Amino acid sequence: MIKIVQITDIHMLSNEESDIYGINPYSLLNKLIESIKLIEDVDCIIITGDIANRGEYDAYIIVNNLFSKLNFPIYWLQGNHDLSEVMLQVSNKVTILSDKSFIIKNTKFILLQSVMRDEGDLSSNKARGYLFDYEMSFLKRELDENNFENCVVALHHPPVLSNSWADRRILDNRLEFIDLLEQYQKVKVVLYGHQHIAQHTKINDINYISSPPTSFHYDPNGERFSLLKDKQGFGIISIDKHSNTQCEFIYIE
Ligand SMILES: [Fe+2]
Ligand SMILES: [Fe+2]
Repeated sequence: MIKIVQITDIHMLSNEESDIYGINPYSLLNKLIESIKLIEDVDCIIITGDIANRGEYDAYIIVNNLFSKLNFPIYWLQGNHDLSEVMLQVSNKVTILSDKSFIIKNTKFILLQSVMRDEGDLSSNKARGYLFDYEMSFLKRELDENNFENCVVALHHPPVLSNSWADRRILDNRLEFIDLLEQYQKVKVVLYGHQHIAQHTKINDINYISSPPTSFHYDPNGERFSLLKDKQGFGIISIDKHSNTQCEFIYIE
């Protein structure tokens, strides 16, 4: 069995004191890590983007320092609030890994980059996401290999709808992405973030999972930017030896 913890949308700021939408990302991530410490047999953590709130260098260092209390491998991928250049700048200062693909216990993980630059302001990113050809062909190349039993794909932008106002910010070519995944029975789980809405959707034997965000949780039934209280947390996803998948969402007090 493999046990994965998903953390998403930390939105860490450049100092430990500041809040965002009335939430302190530092204290929440700290509590969350204390809670993860108590879970047995975790194989890895996948952080599905929006690690920093605005690509702040210090935010990545703060996040890494908090995670250094854990002694299993931790991987991150870029969200639209992250800056790839800054993530590269900190890469030799952090222990969190940026590998695009790796295998743990016969499960292959493929971490994708779905962030698009904003052509109106090239120093920032669009809210919407897209998997360009180079990323789609990388995914196919990795899926075509025969050295694993199950596969977990992770990306920042949602490939499934939440049926809320937040659906204007999804993965633009999500149907092309789903079509490719469905050609491979080994794909069991797709982890995503960005939506700030905890959701588990099963489509044709693939589990699409967006765990509770570390930071603010949107109200899917509310108006734009309305938030739900006390819905911060993380997800525990396990795949057993029969390739059955289980998913549990943990909320932090
Ligand atoms: Fe986010
Ligand atoms: Fe995002």
